[in-house]
Amino acid sequence: MAFTQMIEEEDHQEPSQESRELLSSLPRDKGWRTRHLYLFQGFWCQAKKIHAILSFQQHFQAQANDIIVASIPKSGTTWLKALTFTILNSHLHSIQKQHPLLTCNPHDLVPFLEYNLYADNNIPDLSRRPRLIATHVPFHALPHSIKMETSTSRVVYIARNPFDTLISMWHFMSKLRPDELGPISLEETFDMYCKGKVGYGPYWEHMLRYYKESLENTEKVLFLKYEEMKENITFHLKRLAQFLGCPFSAEEEREGVIQDVAKLCSFDNLKELDVNKNGRCIANFENKHFFRTGKVGDWINYFTPLQVDQFSTLMEHKLEASGLSFKI
Ligand code: A3P
Repeated sequence: MAFTQMIEEEDHQEPSQESRELLSSLPRDKGWRTRHLYLFQGFWCQAKKIHAILSFQQHFQAQANDIIVASIPKSGTTWLKALTFTILNSHLHSIQKQHPLLTCNPHDLVPFLEYNLYADNNIPDLSRRPRLIATHVPFHALPHSIKMETSTSRVVYIARNPFDTLISMWHFMSKLRPDELGPISLEETFDMYCKGKVGYGPYWEHMLRYYKESLENTEKVLFLKYEEMKENITFHLKRLAQFLGCPFSAEEEREGVIQDVAKLCSFDNLKELDVNKNGRCIANFENKHFFRTGKVGDWINYFTPLQVDQFSTLMEHKLEASGLSFKI
C-alpha cells in the first residue's frame, strides 16, 4: 500500500518523517470511519488524532478552574457540552433570548482538544476564561497538568450504557464513512466493539478509569450517566452546577432556571434548530448527525438475542466488582 494511503485517508497533509516512523511502529486494525485505527498509548485511535494528541500532551498547560468535558464518542458528549456551556456562562447569556446555543452547535462552543484546538499542527491561544474544552482521550492519556493532584482543573465525564452507545456509533459511522471504504455491517461493528477496537476504546477501560478517578477524587472528576440524566435532569443539573462551582441559587431554583437550562439543551429543542439541521462542525461533519433519536433503549431494535447474551456476559465480566452498572 502506498505510504500516503497508509497514513490516513482523512489526513491530506504530507506526513513528516517522524509521523511515518511512529505510525509504522504501531499495531493497527480496520477502522470505522477511516481505513485504519492504530493502537496508541493503549487505546485505538485514527492516525490524524495521534498527532493532535501528542501535541496537546506536550503543549497544554492546565490552569486553575479549567473544565474538561470528557467522554467516549456517542455517549452524550453533545448534550453535556451544551449543559456545561450554559451553566458556566449563565452570567453572560440569558437563557430566554439570544443564547449562543440557538445559533451554534455545542461542538463549536466547546471545542475538542484533539479535533479542533491541536488539530492540523495548530497550537491554540487559550487565554480566554473560563476555559471549557473537551476530549475523548482516556484519563491516562490526559496531559499531566490536568491530572496532577495540585491542579484545580476539573473533569466532567459522561458515560452511557454500552448497548445504546454501540448502536449510536454504528449509525454515526455509517453516515460518515467514505464511499470508498464500503458499508460497515452491524455484525462487524459488534465484533470490533466487543474486542475494544473502537476509537478511544476499549470502551470499558475508558469508562472504568474515569469512574475510578471520580470515586477517588470527587473534587476532580464528576461521573455522569446518560440514562440517569434522562431520568432526573433536575437532580443531575444541580450536581453538575455544584461541581462546576456555580450552584443554582434558591432564587434561581424558584424561578425555574434549572428547567430552563434543561429545556434549552434538550434533544427536542437542539435537534430542531436551524444550525443543527443544516450546519456543520468539527471536521466538517453535518450537525444533524449528532442528533438521532436521543433515547434510552433503542438498542433493542437492533441486537439479536444471541448478541444480547454475548454482550451482557461481556459487560458483566468487564464491569465486575467495579461498582459501575447501567440501566439498559
Ligand atoms: P442516539 O444515536 O442514540 O440518538 P455524542 O454527543 O457523544 O456524539 O452522542 C450522540 C448521542 O447523543 C446520539 O444518540 C444523540 O442523538 C444523543 N444526543 C444528542 N444531543 C442530545 C441531547 N441534547 N439530549 C440527549 N441526547 C442527545
